[in-house]
Amino acid sequence: MTAPLIPLPETDAPALPNWPVVARFSLPNEAATDALATRLAAVLQAGDTVLLSGSLGAGKTHLARALIRACLGAPAEPVPSPTFTLVQSYDAGASEIWHADLYRLGDPGEVSELGLDDAFGQAICLVEWPDRLAPDWPQEAVLIHMERLPDDSRRVRVFAPQEGKSLTARVLTAFPS
Ligand SMILES: Nc1ncnc2c1ncn2[C@@H]1O[C@H](COP(=O)(O)OP(=O)(O)OP(=O)(O)O)[C@@H](O)[C@H]1O
Ligand SMILES: [Mg+2]
Repeated sequence: MTAPLIPLPETDAPALPNWPVVARFSLPNEAATDALATRLAAVLQAGDTVLLSGSLGAGKTHLARALIRACLGAPAEPVPSPTFTLVQSYDAGASEIWHADLYRLGDPGEVSELGLDDAFGQAICLVEWPDRLAPDWPQEAVLIHMERLPDDSRRVRVFAPQEGKSLTARVLTAFPS
């Protein structure tokens, strides 16, 4: 059984132009992060990108790992952090899953050297430190921003582009307000 997701009230303005907040949650523990991943994985399709932002230790890799395991239907799948490889890919049958950690990206040209350019729009792509891509990040995307609070819970905001995006519509079904 997955833990219930705790919605947060709307208290602050969207941080990205034309990418409003479509959902916000308080995640008291890892199980709550896993529950969010399970809901999101159920609506992801090949060609979707999930951008994961937040400071060191915010929980981005934990969420990516839970998403990959949910997409693969393999709860015990080893999912190492791509801290040094920068990208790691998985075969989920209908789609590949690419997990990227761009913290150590040298220069923006490396994005195509890593094959990420080609993966965007084809695979399910999960990207930690997506600010390294800005402003050219994929548009069939959502941005999940995670913050660690003093009580060790995580505050999560989901941003999505407003106009005509299939992923945004699907995410709204995963997280109805
Ligand atoms: N909702 C949560 N409540 C408490 N702890 C959590 C929650 N979600 C994740 N964590 C824990 O936070 C720790 C740091 O998480 P993680 O390594 O995923 O951070 P990160 O954002 O990827 O950091 P980095 O930028 O350094 O890669 C892990 O021990 C993880 O289990
Ligand atoms: Mg990480």
